[in-house]
Amino acid sequence: MTNTHTRRTFLALATVSVASVGLAGCSLFGVDDTGGAAVAQEEMPAVDGSRTLVVYFSVPETDDPNGMTQDEENSTHVVDGKVYGNTQYVALLMAERLGADTFRIETAEELPLDHDTLIDLAVEWQDAGTRPELKALIPNLDEYDTVIVGYPIWEYDMPMPLYSFFEQHDFSGKNVYLYTTHDVSGLSGTLEKVAEMLPDATVSENTFDISRSDMDDSEARVGEWLDGLGA
Ligand SMILES: Cc1cc2nc3c(=O)[nH]c(=O)nc-3n(C[C@H](O)[C@H](O)[C@H](O)COP(=O)(O)O)c2cc1C
Repeated sequence: MTNTHTRRTFLALATVSVASVGLAGCSLFGVDDTGGAAVAQEEMPAVDGSRTLVVYFSVPETDDPNGMTQDEENSTHVVDGKVYGNTQYVALLMAERLGADTFRIETAEELPLDHDTLIDLAVEWQDAGTRPELKALIPNLDEYDTVIVGYPIWEYDMPMPLYSFFEQHDFSGKNVYLYTTHDVSGLSGTLEKVAEMLPDATVSENTFDISRSDMDDSEARVGEWLDGLGA
């Protein structure tokens, strides 16, 4: 892996991210009547926490709150001395507020915690279109009407384990909400990808995303978003 490929600066892509959000806005409504387009909030029922599952993928690069490197700080959120991944922490906030269950997506293979090694693996998987093997699938998906799925943006896309996850579960009839944590990349076009992957689900265009730099505001931001879902 070359350095230019593995160390792309996310700032350079901020403009692209904004542009893709604009484009996404144009394609959300009624373009694809075979299914596979995200739908407006008015078409979604109010979220019932007891029938909601919050699913997340998150890779905190350390579990030690002391003496973190910059990369470790970037990938974690520390509360009361406990280390969480950014996406993990948002999932826990959502689940707590909703009284919902959680499920963590994990790969069968343990992931490297060294940042550069993790980036190299993410790029390698992405370039090869790899579907990494998952440790477990959700055993009781039929018990939930609504699934909120959260993931960090990796290389301007979902981490490849999310592709494994969406392809290996039956989301027919489910209401699906997406959220991401990231540096600057927002959703990075992943809403449209997921909506296409799940033509038999109702995927909401009402997404949530938060930059890792804003994690101190995450509780308030999550609360506002959930208010908007009628939760
Ligand atoms: C392999 C890798 C690739 C990343 N690629 C991007 C990216 O393309 N755009 C971005 O804004 N942030 C990117 N990030 C930053 C993460 O999205 C961000 O730190 C996220 O909050 C990490 O979530 P987690 O702690 O739940 O794993 C990347 C991080 C890693 C480890």
